[in-house]
Amino acid sequence: MILSSYASLWIFGVLLLSPSLIISLPIQDSFLQCLQKNSDISFPFSTLLYSPANSSFISILQSSAQNLRFTLSLTPKPELIYKPVEESHIQAAVICSKQLGIHLRVRSGGHDREGLSYVSQIDTPFIVVDLDMLRSISIDIDGNSAWVQAGATIGELYYRISEKSKNHGFPAGVCPSVGVGGHITGGGYGSMFRKYGLAADNVIDARIIDAQGRVLDRKVMGEDLFWAIRGGGGGSFGIISAWKVKLVPVPSTVTVFRVAKTLEQGATKLLYRWQQVADKLDDDLFLSVSVQLANAGKKGKKTMSTSYDAMFLGDTKRLLQVMQESFPELGLQQQDCIETSWINSVLYMSFFPNNTTPEILLQRNNLFKRYLKGKSDYVKEPIPETALEGLWERLFEEENPSMVLIPYGGMMNKISEYQIPYPHRKGNLFMIDYSTSWKDPSENAAKHIDWVKKIYEYMAPYVSMNPREAYGNYRDLDLGMNEKTNTSCEEASVWGTKYFKDNFYRLVQVKTRVDPDNFFRHEQSIPPGHISEKERLK
Ligand SMILES: Cc1cc2nc3c(=O)[nH]c(=O)nc-3n(C[C@H](O)[C@H](O)[C@H](O)COP(=O)(O)OP(=O)(O)OC[C@H]3O[C@@H](n4cnc5c(N)ncnc54)[C@H](O)[C@@H]3O)c2cc1C
Ligand SMILES: *[C@@H]1O[C@H](CO)[C@@H](O)[C@H](O)[C@H]1NC(C)=O
Ligand SMILES: *[C@@H]1O[C@H](CO)[C@@H](O)[C@H](O)[C@H]1NC(C)=O
Ligand SMILES: *[C@@H]1O[C@H](CO)[C@@H](O)[C@H](O)[C@H]1NC(C)=O
Repeated sequence: MILSSYASLWIFGVLLLSPSLIISLPIQDSFLQCLQKNSDISFPFSTLLYSPANSSFISILQSSAQNLRFTLSLTPKPELIYKPVEESHIQAAVICSKQLGIHLRVRSGGHDREGLSYVSQIDTPFIVVDLDMLRSISIDIDGNSAWVQAGATIGELYYRISEKSKNHGFPAGVCPSVGVGGHITGGGYGSMFRKYGLAADNVIDARIIDAQGRVLDRKVMGEDLFWAIRGGGGGSFGIISAWKVKLVPVPSTVTVFRVAKTLEQGATKLLYRWQQVADKLDDDLFLSVSVQLANAGKKGKKTMSTSYDAMFLGDTKRLLQVMQESFPELGLQQQDCIETSWINSVLYMSFFPNNTTPEILLQRNNLFKRYLKGKSDYVKEPIPETALEGLWERLFEEENPSMVLIPYGGMMNKISEYQIPYPHRKGNLFMIDYSTSWKDPSENAAKHIDWVKKIYEYMAPYVSMNPREAYGNYRDLDLGMNEKTNTSCEEASVWGTKYFKDNFYRLVQVKTRVDPDNFFRHEQSIPPGHISEKERLK
């Protein structure tokens, strides 16, 4: 096993290393030597390097790999995993990966749905820089801000804020094990985004290691690059080492509830109604709908369950008023409502049992890892009831289908679609996150993936068109990918305009300026390149 990896490196070395570096050293050794040369020589870098020869290699690789589809033995594996413990160690990694001509991937929380932070299908061999150890968080309550290193999870950030104050929070994702590093580079929505916008809308500074190995903050990188990294997708412009984020006010008491309706209880009509009100509800209310299969009665008959999951920045009394005024059809009762603290609402919204303490957020690991395929859509007009009925028929064909409907409106309507690269703003009623998941590796993945494709095809008439918009953080390689390292920006615009609409072309311009050699690249990274006059005018 070791021999074969040495052999491939040797071939690699002959083909690609500059003449002075053609030596028969395995990549682990040459990388180690290079790190020492480019950093504090006395630092024990070997303790940060894991190669397949280290017994913990696979467990380190899989530690944060969220989608089990990319942990199978046939999945391409990195030559080594490097876990820097200081920012300067990231700089050295960039310099050495360049010098040795070995492709680099960067991982923060490992939630990329196509595994791009730890698997490369287009560049081999490759190494993974895993920011897992760079996760310090410093909260400045008086300044309403926090510096958070990229390897922290959003759950850790929420916990550290709540430790300091019951009246501060941060508007990022629902799932606490998501990494701050990848999440904010793609936008980041959660239960407060109708009130305060995306995580990326609430970034005030950042530190990035660029393709030359320099550390740049907002002032030094300039507003163009600072614009691009807040929503333009991870792995294209550099390695974020830390974000400075703006904290937002949260009341001491928030209210949560979960009310489910089955088809027999009128779920279809109710969901049609929800589509008409969800984006217009009070900004303090986040009311998402999660659609899943459920049992109807005892005879093993299946039904569809639509679960209305809510977080309200206020108390039960006001929530009941808001619901009575705008969505009485749900029939919310006082006894459905749970008043709690913001930090406990985080646990509730991410389905932890209700006696779980917030300390669980420090454990980082997601207990719900599965084999997963997902897609996303944006909806501008309510989906007709007949179309919903057709949708249920198709959901019944899959064992564990999931559709989550995320309401827009509120602050999302007030921020221009050009403010940051994330463009899906005014005019969207809600986003749909379709997925299917399975637990058994021997299951036929292609069957499940085809099912998601079928649902996506069925939904085409009811969702955004030209382009059919998609959420960049719900990465989906079916939308198109960079087959080659020199994919033209015209080819990339096929998927790029789905994620970023016309902001894609500005992202290409920034990329061309800061990384013309395309050092930071992956299957869906922004390519550098020439933009035609027609596109530039957009
Ligand atoms: C179970 C689950 C729940 C989710 N819930 C939500 C949610 O509630 N809201 C939401 O908005 N999204 C959600 N997402 C999507 C999530 O925001 C994205 O997958 C996000 O990119 C994950 O960030 P990460 O650091 O964990 O991922 P990673 O896999 O580490 O990285 C994702 C991408 O960013 C790049 N990257 C990673 N770190 C850096 C860095 N420091 N600098 C530059 N590039 C970097 C990677 O190379 C990769 O291309 C969820 C995903 C999953 C799997
Ligand atoms: C991996 O193995 C090498 C060689 O035995 C060793 O020097 C290095 O310290 C190991 N890495 C870790 C993180 O233990
Ligand atoms: C959990 O919440 C449910 C519903 O609100 C409640 O009935 C139950 O007593 C709670 N359990 C615990 C352990 O708090
Ligand atoms: C991309 O690279 C291939 C060879 O790898 C070459 O044939 C092609 O001309 C290149 N395309 C562009 C647009 O540079």
